[in-house]
Amino acid sequence: MSNSAEIRINGNSYELPVVVGSEDEVAIDIGSFRTQSGVITLDPGFKNTGSTQSAITFLDGEKGILRYRGYSIEELAENSTFLEVAYLLIYGELPDKETFDQFKKEVSLHTLVNEDIKKILEGFPSAAHPMGVLSSLVTSLTAFYPESLDPNRSKDRVNLSIIRLLAKLPTFAAWSYKNEVGHPVMYPRNDLDYTSNFLYMMFGLPSEKYEVDPVVAKALDQLLILHADHEQNCSTATVRVVGSSQASLFASISAGVNALWGPLHGGANQAVIEMLARIQQDGGDTAKWMAKAKDKDDPFRLMGFGHRVYKNFDPRAKIIKKAADDVLDKLGVNDPILDIAKGLEEVALKDDYFVERKLYPNVDFYSGIIYRALGIPVDMFTVMFALGRLPGWIAQWKEMRENGEPIGRPRQVYTGSKLRQYVPMNKR
Ligand code: CMC
Repeated sequence: MSNSAEIRINGNSYELPVVVGSEDEVAIDIGSFRTQSGVITLDPGFKNTGSTQSAITFLDGEKGILRYRGYSIEELAENSTFLEVAYLLIYGELPDKETFDQFKKEVSLHTLVNEDIKKILEGFPSAAHPMGVLSSLVTSLTAFYPESLDPNRSKDRVNLSIIRLLAKLPTFAAWSYKNEVGHPVMYPRNDLDYTSNFLYMMFGLPSEKYEVDPVVAKALDQLLILHADHEQNCSTATVRVVGSSQASLFASISAGVNALWGPLHGGANQAVIEMLARIQQDGGDTAKWMAKAKDKDDPFRLMGFGHRVYKNFDPRAKIIKKAADDVLDKLGVNDPILDIAKGLEEVALKDDYFVERKLYPNVDFYSGIIYRALGIPVDMFTVMFALGRLPGWIAQWKEMRENGEPIGRPRQVYTGSKLRQYVPMNKR
């Protein structure tokens, strides 16, 4: 492999370094190209632009490979727990028992939130989407821990913010749901594991004894693992760019929550269930909806299908499809929407439109079905995604800081008016 690339433009030739990753991914480093040539590269949506060199997650979209810190997603989903995966992503190695016990203890020490946060929560109308509530509560941490505002403080200080955020996000997530349904909030129970504690705060009521179903806790824990990181996607890139201005961890992650919210990203899981319900109510005619998805004049898209990087299959979708069958079976849930999903998938996988464009079910196609079976309401689905993605965002923010990366500041090709003269309003 040559260690340089040549770009020729306007009769001039420029030599640029080539960077090769540990899995032999090749990139041309165009950092000096503009200074050399006065020319920039253009890539809306960053479809072919690497923004960083990262040692966290490896993804091969053609082969359907996803690994966190070198460990395959299949193995982690099968054998690990979400909190262990969080440790792996953030600190780079699997913890030994002693380290993990200490980490677990630290996280459980910080699950409680300041009582004044309840006042902020109460200010939200019950119609507020829980993602908006979640990002606001994350931002509010900057007010309760002003020392966290400076990310250049000591490593220990930064680590405390990391632990606090990991510990408090489940509390915020559960409370955003309580606000929606108008129920009293539940305080964390530190004798429970990370995911069970979240379920307890979400579904528990002060007037009732609530036992967390281990089947539900295990299924949710696995879903969180599958969502824990996904290299430079929309929300993660957002976290890194916001953090690159030296904004605090809480401010950067709050931005990530908002970026995740949209239906083309984390909001797809909600959109999938709404779509499947719509198809069901419409009589379940999958052929009709497939035709709509293919019609360029129709804005309808098959939600949960297609991915910017996976062009073969999404390895998370494979695991989730099986998990959906298992969970529904174990919980004795019979969801007709699962049949519609399977029907749509079967048709799409044989349809030329989807085959030619390499559109396959993504992680969100089946995750919503599991969330439904677990009793999680539709507008909380994306909150579940945020809970899962948190360690990835933290790891990426931390890596960006440790790499000393420069502020994110893309360029543009200007296509507006050339200089024109201002005309006073009465003469226009
Ligand atoms: N239904 C119908 N057509 C589609 C779909 C779809 N779901 N996805 C892509 N296409 C078509 C698109 O119209 C285009 O066709 P053409 O080449 O004829 O113009 C072609 O496939 C390429 O699509 P694109 O929009 O250029 O691809 P992209 O890489 O920019 O977008 C995507 C990726 C995920 C935004 C898109 O596939 C999509 O909108 N999918 C539905 C939303 C969804 O499920 N999002 C969740 C992604 S997984 C969770 C996460 O990691 O965020």
